[in-house]
Amino acid sequence: MMKKLDLLYEGKAKKVYKTEDENVLIVDYKDDATAFNGLKKGTIVGKGAINNRMSNHIFRLLEKEGVPTHLVEELSDRETAVKKVEIVPLEVIIRNVAAGSFSKKLGIEEGRKLLRPTLEFSYKNDELGDPFINGYYALALGLATEEEIETISDYAFRVNDVLIKYFDSIGIELIDFKIEFGRLADGTVILADEISPDTCRLWDKETREKLDKDRFRRDLGNVEDAYEEVFKRLGIK
Ligand code: TMP
Ligand code: ASP
Repeated sequence: MMKKLDLLYEGKAKKVYKTEDENVLIVDYKDDATAFNGLKKGTIVGKGAINNRMSNHIFRLLEKEGVPTHLVEELSDRETAVKKVEIVPLEVIIRNVAAGSFSKKLGIEEGRKLLRPTLEFSYKNDELGDPFINGYYALALGLATEEEIETISDYAFRVNDVLIKYFDSIGIELIDFKIEFGRLADGTVILADEISPDTCRLWDKETREKLDKDRFRRDLGNVEDAYEEVFKRLGIK
C-alpha cells in the first residue's frame, strides 16, 4: 500500500502528503470545519471519513459519466491517493436553486428554483476572501486559458447533470455546489478537491431540511446527524 511521506500542505479541512510516486499525493481528511474564510472554527465529528468516502463514491460515478478526476485509490476511511495536479485558482460554483450568497446579493428568497443553472467563479485567494470574478477576469489575470475555462465550464455543467439525477434518486435536492479543477503535468484539466456536504447544499427532497454544512455555518444544530444522513443514503457497502 502507498505510504505517506512528507506533509506537503495543510488546508482547513485536509492534509496533503507526498508519496514515493512523484505524480501521486495522499489526501487525509480532517474533522475540522471552518466558515466565513476561517473566522468560524469547529469540529464535525466523523466528517473526515464521510467526506472522504462520499467524495470518492461521487468521483467514481463521474468518471463513468466521462468526467476525469484526480481519484487514484481510497486507502482508508480518511485517506485517498490522488493524482498530483496544479490547482486552477478558481472555485467553480453551479446553482440550481437560489440560496446563500446568491440570495443575499440579489434579494431572492432561499429555495426559489432558478429558470436554468448558473455558473460563477471565485478567485481562490484566502487573503481576499475568495472574491466573485467572471471568465474575463480569469483570462485577464492569467488564472486559466480560454480553452481551460471552456473545458471547466463544460465539465461543471456535466457534473451538475449527473449529480442532480443521482441525488434525486436518494431523496436529495441539489441546490448548489462548488468544485475545483487541476492540471496534470501535461496540462490536462481534471476534477480535483472534493464533493461532499462541505461543498454542496443538499436539501431533503420532501421536507427541504438542510443536510449540509449550512447547519454548521448557521448554527442550526444536528450537524453530525445531517452528514450521517447523507452518507447513509449513499448506500456505500
Ligand atoms: P455561497 O452561496 O456561499 O456562494 O456558496 C455556494 C456553494 O459553494 C455552496 O454549495 C457552498 C459552497 N462553498 C464552498 O464549498 N466553499 C466556500 O468557501 C464557500 C463560500 C461556499
Ligand atoms: N471555505 C470556507 C472557509 O473557511 C468555508 C465555507 O463556508 O464553506 O472558511
